[in-house]
Amino acid sequence: MTTTTPEAVGRSRPAKAPAVFDAAAARKDFPILGTLVRGKPLVYLDNAATTQKPRQVTAALVGYYETSNSNVHRGVHRLSETATRLYEGARAHVAEFIGAAEPAEIIFVRGTTEAINLVCHSWGRPNVAAGDEVIISGLEHHSNIVPWQRLCEEKGARLKVIPMNDRGELLLDEYERLFSDRTRIVAVNHVSNALGTINPVAEMAASAHARGVPLLVDGAQGLPHLGVDVRALGCDFYAFSGHKMYAPMGIGVLFGRKELLSKMPPYQSGGDMIKSVTFDRTIYNDPPHLFEAGTPNVAGAVGLDAAVAYLGGAGQDAIRRHEEEVLEYATGRLGDMEGLRIYGTAREKAGVISFTMEGVHPHDVGTILDTEGVAVRTGHHCAQPIMERFGIPATVRASFGLYNVKADVDALVAALGKVRSVFR
Ligand code: ALA
Repeated sequence: MTTTTPEAVGRSRPAKAPAVFDAAAARKDFPILGTLVRGKPLVYLDNAATTQKPRQVTAALVGYYETSNSNVHRGVHRLSETATRLYEGARAHVAEFIGAAEPAEIIFVRGTTEAINLVCHSWGRPNVAAGDEVIISGLEHHSNIVPWQRLCEEKGARLKVIPMNDRGELLLDEYERLFSDRTRIVAVNHVSNALGTINPVAEMAASAHARGVPLLVDGAQGLPHLGVDVRALGCDFYAFSGHKMYAPMGIGVLFGRKELLSKMPPYQSGGDMIKSVTFDRTIYNDPPHLFEAGTPNVAGAVGLDAAVAYLGGAGQDAIRRHEEEVLEYATGRLGDMEGLRIYGTAREKAGVISFTMEGVHPHDVGTILDTEGVAVRTGHHCAQPIMERFGIPATVRASFGLYNVKADVDALVAALGKVRSVFR
């Protein structure tokens, strides 16, 4: 068997992305979509939890381990140089992909959760004091609530929450009213993982900046569906996970504006985040290395690079239009079902339909759907305050990726018919 080097498989981006996304053709890149689950063809609708991986990504991973594996930034030997080139190449490609000003604004982390914890630690601790305020929204995932809550508890600061309406849209007038001269940062998601609401983050960033307040975006569900241009959004930090954008698990990105990163102290300490160490004194490295102590996930970065090439080649705008069509179709079909209630009806939505079925617990719905090969998530989706807002313990969530087609929605509707027949 010949092994392709990750450089060859990872970057096959055509000069110009096609205007229309061919989901049927793309499905062939994802071998798992051709498998059976409980004897039925897999219908994968749990993309907000994690996406499947195309061959281009798994080939890059295997290629990396079979031809180029080594530690980075440390060796003078050929393999180490290759691994370093691949790792730093991935950083440069990610920077270009999201519109960062330079690769040094890209910090590789484990995922969105670590990215937000990094900001809370390295930006939050020096900048938030007793009596200060942090603004988040009622639409957040626990990973964009708990780190801020802990920071506020530690510092004696106050957490303020932007409320939402019954559609699951943030109330922007209320947002404006939450600011005070003690507001230190705003942290909101780009797209809600539980309801699918797209938040107007560019507008929210402009409001924050008008008051000299930075804004962090949890982009875990934003980037895979919408793509992102961090300069156009005007955000100061943007966090996302590789595994939700067709890349491997265990790799993610924190984008931070250089001006902020350059003033932040380290996150973790150890190798690679230093320029020199004596027992008397350590001189720290510069960002991004300052925030990447220890051996990084080089293979993960190589896989992320391949996913970025895949998305870039397919065209994020074309993917977005395709996903919008599938979501609209699903909203219509599910909306027609008796006793089914959709939660999250924002005018701007992406990727997700959360719903309940009258008289059936969401977990029972999920279990019966599984017997039909349909994978969805059920529960509170790590967003318990949203469930509380709507007075429910849980929902069933179907979430879409680039390879989902209308036939997947039809399979979901047919399987929901089976749920209804069991619970009649
Ligand atoms: N945050 C992921 C989800 O929404 C795990 O399912």
